[in-house]
Amino acid sequence: MSAAGSVPQDVDSDDCLLNYSYIFSPDILKNKVAFITGGGSGIGFRIAEILMRHGCQTVIASRSLERVQASAAKLRAATGQRCLPASADVRRPETIVAAVDAALQEFGKVDILINGAAGNFLCPASGLSFNAFKTVLEIDTMGTFNTSKILYQKCLKDHGGVIVNITATLSYRGQILQVHAGSAKAAIDAMTKHLAVEWGPDNIRVNSLAPGPVSGTEGFRKLVS
Ligand code: HXC
Ligand code: NAP
Repeated sequence: MSAAGSVPQDVDSDDCLLNYSYIFSPDILKNKVAFITGGGSGIGFRIAEILMRHGCQTVIASRSLERVQASAAKLRAATGQRCLPASADVRRPETIVAAVDAALQEFGKVDILINGAAGNFLCPASGLSFNAFKTVLEIDTMGTFNTSKILYQKCLKDHGGVIVNITATLSYRGQILQVHAGSAKAAIDAMTKHLAVEWGPDNIRVNSLAPGPVSGTEGFRKLVS
């Protein structure tokens, strides 16, 4: 990904920006802590970088500890902020609990949750196995609920915060080869509204963010492969 206006060259690795122009105050997120699932790559990595460039400390969590460790090293070097890598599979609540406990031990709190972990591939509905459909729903939809509920119970309900669910526009009109991802993301959009009204009184803001195709990411590569 690139901050430049021209179409960026695709690359296999995730790297921090060489140049960054501030729109908001550089310390607008000073003393805040963000927990980012899928933060070791693609859109989640870039979200982590931008939050850290604004003074935020982060926890980046995904299944591959090696991936989040390597990404955390890059993020720390580029931003000077603390970044804790954590291994977790959002389908397995006990692994999220362990990662959140490690985050609370390191930072004492979490203010912001970015639910970015997801899985996708192109496949016609008729060719999808039952397990393939279930797998994407489990990673995207259940994973978002699992992580949100655990962070709510462990800290957000005590001091409020922000949850951002990364969804997609696939279901807005329907799209071929994407019934699994579109259904999963539409369910997250519904979940967002339910949690926003239920947790709003606890001073927790819940929103969805639905990007269009973003070049230089695994999600984009899977759509065009
Ligand atoms: C059909 C497939 C498949 C494919 C896997 N399956 N790949 N079916 N076409 N290309 C089936 C398998 O056969 C299996 O069903 C079931 O899905 C589970 O597969 P596993 O490999 O066992 O699952 P797992 O190891 O958990 O891997 C999950 C994954 C994988 C989603 C399949 O690709 C992954 O880990 N992805 C994470 C990275 C990623 O996808 N990033 C892109 C996010 S972008 P059976 O019946 O054989 O057991 C995104 C974009 C949205 O979300 C919008 C863009 C505009
Ligand atoms: P990506 O780099 O593949 O990001 C997905 C991340 O989720 C990876 O870091 C992966 O790491 C993690 N992950 C996958 N399964 C997991 C699990 N079970 N538990 C924990 N972590 C898991 O792809 P991306 O394209 O940047 O996508 C990021 C987000 O943006 C996703 O929510 C995607 O749906 C959304 N989105 C992307 C686009 C696009 O054009 N790229 C468009 C719209 C929406 P591990 O493999 O280490 O677990």
